[in-house]
Amino acid sequence: MRDLDTLPKAELHLHVEGTLEPELAFDLAARNGVELPFADVRELRAAYDFRDLQSFLDLYYATMAVLRTARDFTDLTLAYLERSVPQGLRHVELFFDPQAHTGRGVAFEDVVDGIGEGLRLGRERWGVTGGLIMCFLRDQPVEDAARTLQAAATRRGSLLGVGLDSAEVGHPPALFADVFAAARAQGLHVVAHAGEEAPPAYVREALDVLGVERVDHGVQAVHDADLLRRLAAEQVPLTVCPLSNVRLRVVDRLEEHPLHRLLAAGVRVTVNSDDPAYFGGYVGDCYRALREAVGLSDAQAAQLARNAVLGSFADQARKAELL
Ligand code: ADE
Ligand code: ZN
Repeated sequence: MRDLDTLPKAELHLHVEGTLEPELAFDLAARNGVELPFADVRELRAAYDFRDLQSFLDLYYATMAVLRTARDFTDLTLAYLERSVPQGLRHVELFFDPQAHTGRGVAFEDVVDGIGEGLRLGRERWGVTGGLIMCFLRDQPVEDAARTLQAAATRRGSLLGVGLDSAEVGHPPALFADVFAAARAQGLHVVAHAGEEAPPAYVREALDVLGVERVDHGVQAVHDADLLRRLAAEQVPLTVCPLSNVRLRVVDRLEEHPLHRLLAAGVRVTVNSDDPAYFGGYVGDCYRALREAVGLSDAQAAQLARNAVLGSFADQARKAELL
């Protein structure tokens, strides 16, 4: 059996704020004089017991209050890379949530420059490539998303694309049609979370109305045979996050995860960690957990890794290096 860490991996669904380990959260809280509503690392970790997406998001947004300066974002990004490179990470297209920071008085430029510096150092130290995908919070007014896209003009060259995340049910993709059209017109790549908790119709809407190039999660598509056929025919990458789906109770157990059904339908599935500090594993851990729980074979693991490279926004030369 292959050592899965030696498989070169691209990660396409990773929220940088979701890589904030409790130890770093307390270090940054001390550095910035921010009070966390938990006594210590143990108490914070004990709160990682989620009922659903919303119960996770409540803690996720509360904890990121410790992130205040560009240096904090650099340290966060480097800590993620340091953990992931030994697990085979070679390329990452990471999400960030600017509205969750600018709403607290952090400058948009500090967020982007800080993460960008982390990626630059990662490339220098470990040869990891990648870029930033700016996500709009779908549970905030669409006008905020439009303003955020305007604010991003000062850092347009630092962005690969835009995405859509946060509380899904009741906040369908079509609400953001105009913002996504504007992003596409600027030449930005577009992706969106869809079909994590909400029904397959959200996946269709993300494709048809937002024009997304990848669907983040998308696992609910397994309940819609027509949609599965379309995803397979069009080879739309799904950035699936199995450990996240268990922790947020999208599925009861990893053994019941639809990954095999999606693969069998011919969908371009990729495996990702989503918010690894909260969900119990980085990208290599996700592959390992699938081997243990659902018998992922070496050939399937290689296919998933290949799908991620093919589904990435890396240029052809970099893709060729990674394949
Ligand atoms: N933000 C961070 N992680 C998320 C997830 N799994 N779904 C939606 N929004 C998120
Ligand atoms: Zn996500």
